[in-house]
Amino acid sequence: MAASDELEYLKTLVSQLNAKIEALEAKAKKAVASHKTPAHQLRTILMGPPGAGKGTQAPRIREEFCVCHLATGDMLREQVTKKTKLGVEAKKIMDAGGLVSDDIMVGMIKDQLEHNQECKNGFVLDGFPRTVPQAEKLNSMLQARKEKLDSVVELVYDDQLLNSRITGRLIHPASGRTYHKEFNPPKKPFVDDVTGEPLVQRSDDNVEALRKRLAVFHTQTGPVVEYYKAKGLWRPIDAAQSPALVWDNLRRVFAKQQ
Ligand code: AP5
Repeated sequence: MAASDELEYLKTLVSQLNAKIEALEAKAKKAVASHKTPAHQLRTILMGPPGAGKGTQAPRIREEFCVCHLATGDMLREQVTKKTKLGVEAKKIMDAGGLVSDDIMVGMIKDQLEHNQECKNGFVLDGFPRTVPQAEKLNSMLQARKEKLDSVVELVYDDQLLNSRITGRLIHPASGRTYHKEFNPPKKPFVDDVTGEPLVQRSDDNVEALRKRLAVFHTQTGPVVEYYKAKGLWRPIDAAQSPALVWDNLRRVFAKQQ
């Protein structure tokens, strides 16, 4: 066989093998997901002030435990992008650092728990519940479904340090992937590593809105922490460590409850 023919043959073989490997990997991943038994299910809440790292850690939990990641902020931003009636109203509230009504937020979570197939092994809630009425409604919802929360993890972070995390954050709107100009930069500036699409800054990621978001966190979400402490579910983690260390601590919390 001529050298050029042999090269062509080997290239085809390699590409066929790659395709086969990808198919087998996808099959193996699916098998792991479907072999999850109720004993391996996970129902957890990630709490913490804006910029504490909820959106950074939640996708790892989703991947590791094959659960759905329900981020109410992302759901609202999707409505904003689609320019729905809710999106137009929500944008004004979000940009001002306020909270969208409890009924709307509870309705969104209820709909996901009932219809999102990815929630069959459990969930990680990110940004919900944010008020005591939301926590109470979630409690009734789970009781009706005969399901129990495993843990409520608070990513604890000092208010004074949040400014730089928030003002340096970049996001990929379509996937919700999060970067940081300094602490977690994309490979190419302002470009998503996975899709090559542009990264943007959130319209509520400015010093003024952050001040309001923090105040709302302490007045409205602080009591939610107390609510879960009273139920014995609260687990604090120091969020001032590197993302890898925060992840190690999270895994330790989840390992204890398996
Ligand atoms: P939402 O989108 O939930 O925003 P948030 O709670 O303010 O939280 P953030 O997304 O700002 O922070 P994060 O903890 O996810 O931080 P991240 O991982 O990105 O809500 C937005 C708005 O929607 C609300 O203000 C409200 O109006 C409305 N809303 C949403 N839910 C609602 C509800 N239930 N009820 C009513 N209204 C609701 O990290 C931040 C940055 O730091 C990133 O750049 C990241 O790369 C970096 N970083 C993360 N971890 C580390 C680390 N360990 N070390 C160094 N850098 C790190």
